[in-house]
Amino acid sequence: MRRELAIEFSRVTEAAALASSSWIGRGDKLAADEAAVEAMRLSLNETDIDGTIVIGEGEIDEAPMLYIGERLGTGNGEAVEIAVDPIDGTRMVAMGQPNAVAVMAVADPGVLLKAPDMYMEKLVVAPGAKGKIDLNDTLEENIIRCAEAIGKPLSEFVVMTLAKPRHEAIIARLHDLGVRVHAIPDGDVAASVFVCMPEREADMFYGIGGAPEGVISAAVVRALDGDMQGRLLPRYEVKGDTKEHRIIGADETRRCHEMGLATHAILKLEDMVSNDNIIFSATGITDGDLLHGVRRAKDDILYTETLVIRGKSRTVRRIESAHYLRRKADNLLAIINK
Ligand code: FBP
Repeated sequence: MRRELAIEFSRVTEAAALASSSWIGRGDKLAADEAAVEAMRLSLNETDIDGTIVIGEGEIDEAPMLYIGERLGTGNGEAVEIAVDPIDGTRMVAMGQPNAVAVMAVADPGVLLKAPDMYMEKLVVAPGAKGKIDLNDTLEENIIRCAEAIGKPLSEFVVMTLAKPRHEAIIARLHDLGVRVHAIPDGDVAASVFVCMPEREADMFYGIGGAPEGVISAAVVRALDGDMQGRLLPRYEVKGDTKEHRIIGADETRRCHEMGLATHAILKLEDMVSNDNIIFSATGITDGDLLHGVRRAKDDILYTETLVIRGKSRTVRRIESAHYLRRKADNLLAIINK
């Protein structure tokens, strides 16, 4: 992939963050998501690539835009596969809470795992503990090995997770082990990136979240030389064993088989992302550990902070941009001001 594409993709996540920022704290996560999707699509279509969405907002019949298989870009450029999460943390945008980001990862065709949109158990560790994780072992065993490799006492080892009811028992076990737990409401992509950043303050992410977010995380974890394992889980094991969740779970299991995957099987980092020639871009929507959110200084100027990572050269860039709204293209401005 041409290195110049890195800056192009930063424009795409910036557009999504700007568009969704109008919806921060307005209690409407669908409207926020729709704005981010529209802006991302518009921006991607102006980029000189022959792109195909491989992880998107859903299947064509359930998502009108950025659906899996959708072709994007001007077509005058190289073929790439694109994984997007226009907002990771839609609820946080709606509720005005921290840590919401607009993210995307781009790779050569055939590099990213194609999995159904279901749940995934994820274990991510910082670069110093690469090769030390195994989801067959207990979380405690993994942490002890990783803390030793990183050279931290357990009392200083930081595990990030999502503050969801399904993680309550795990969080209690981690407290018993004596590690620090940072439980954030939502957004496991930002947490996974944070764990692998050079200036990180956390050492591990563990939790069950979306599989699409898991593959996007895997791309950036690989680019930053961290490590990750995942396991696809049927809905009834995550959200409660009800009749409805059993039906959905059976469908997920069937789709996994059709795609050559199996629920509960361990997916290693290289199974999720087969090389590190990826470009990742994330722009903050609301303030968070990883990025500042969109800020408005004067009426017509918005500021964004974007993290752009190029796996091939392992370059991590932070881009601060001032966006003069009066100079924005009308079509993007219409989405921002909707
Ligand atoms: P969305 O904003 O796309 O809903 O994702 C937020 C998120 O926290 C993800 O980071 C995570 O993978 C997933 O939701 C967890 O799912 P659930 O909210 O169903 O527990």
